[in-house]
Amino acid sequence: MILLTGATGRVGSSAAKALSRAGVRFRALVRDPDKVAFDSDGVEVVQGDLNDPAIVEQALQGISRALIVMGNHPDQSQLERQFASLAADAGVSHLVKVSSMEAAPDATATLPKNHYDTEQYITELGVDWTFLRPNYYMQNMLMYAGAIARTNSFALPLGTAKTAMIDARDVGEVAAVVLTGEGHAGQAYRLTGPTMMDFHEVALRMGAVLERSVSYVAQSPEAFREVLGQFIQSAWQLDAVCELFAEIAAGSLEEQNSTTADLLGRPALDLESFTRQFAGAFQPAD
Ligand SMILES: NC(=O)c1ccc[n+]([C@@H]2O[C@H](COP(=O)([O-])OP(=O)(O)OC[C@H]3O[C@@H](n4cnc5c(N)ncnc54)[C@H](OP(=O)(O)O)[C@@H]3O)[C@@H](O)[C@H]2O)c1
Repeated sequence: MILLTGATGRVGSSAAKALSRAGVRFRALVRDPDKVAFDSDGVEVVQGDLNDPAIVEQALQGISRALIVMGNHPDQSQLERQFASLAADAGVSHLVKVSSMEAAPDATATLPKNHYDTEQYITELGVDWTFLRPNYYMQNMLMYAGAIARTNSFALPLGTAKTAMIDARDVGEVAAVVLTGEGHAGQAYRLTGPTMMDFHEVALRMGAVLERSVSYVAQSPEAFREVLGQFIQSAWQLDAVCELFAEIAAGSLEEQNSTTADLLGRPALDLESFTRQFAGAFQPAD
């Protein structure tokens, strides 16, 4: 039996849908069952928080493989490690962790450093592991949907840096492939979308789908921090995101490869299909 964490989030819900489509039975540990957006017929939904070891132990009964994915939070590393350790104790044989492309021994920014340290922790538990290290999620563009709808533009502190952004749904589908397949133990998969581009090109491509001109405004790190501070209350999170964007601006995500397509057996989803799928969010109000 497979256990998913994060199944109400972007990656986890996609993994859940892929498992359901394939007729694979699984269990999902969720904080709020009302947020479950996949067909939960035949799915065991366990309600609970990852910060509750007793619930985690209960959810892990009879599990052989588990997906670890959580939103970024000051307690993320501690909770992911606790989950991994309880999973190993419960006899889980294979852990699949969503990490990030910048996770590396020399990572200094908080989020990739935490991911790398958690990966290292997992490698010492004596269970099989697979790490998914994705590039920038296309879904991040939804944070700018209001600005694009109102002003046909969005601002980011990324200069002309490029990313090979990936649809988070593909990351979830890769997770489902790894959780149900063989030959993935000991792999750290660097997952990208199909195209490396800077954000001027992102704007151009999104505008072509939305049938209007969209532009990207390169913002200063200071202006980014000020705007973001209006939406993010946590100083930890604000610092972590600003650090990460400084690294992306310096080129940390300038990598494109065929791993996503190779694992999925089809091309990775492109920005055009993402924009079409979420077009409503980017359209101006009538
Ligand atoms: N954004 C990017 O460009 C990017 C790129 C590479 C890697 N990543 C990594 O991707 C991960 C985030 O994936 P995502 O986008 O799928 O996340 P997401 O959409 O924010 O979803 C997070 C999930 O974690 C659950 N969760 C959070 N805290 C929990 C807790 N204490 N107990 C139980 N469940 C908890 C959430 O439940 P609720 O629904 O109840 O909140 C939700 O299901 C992060 O580790 C991030 O570093 C992101």
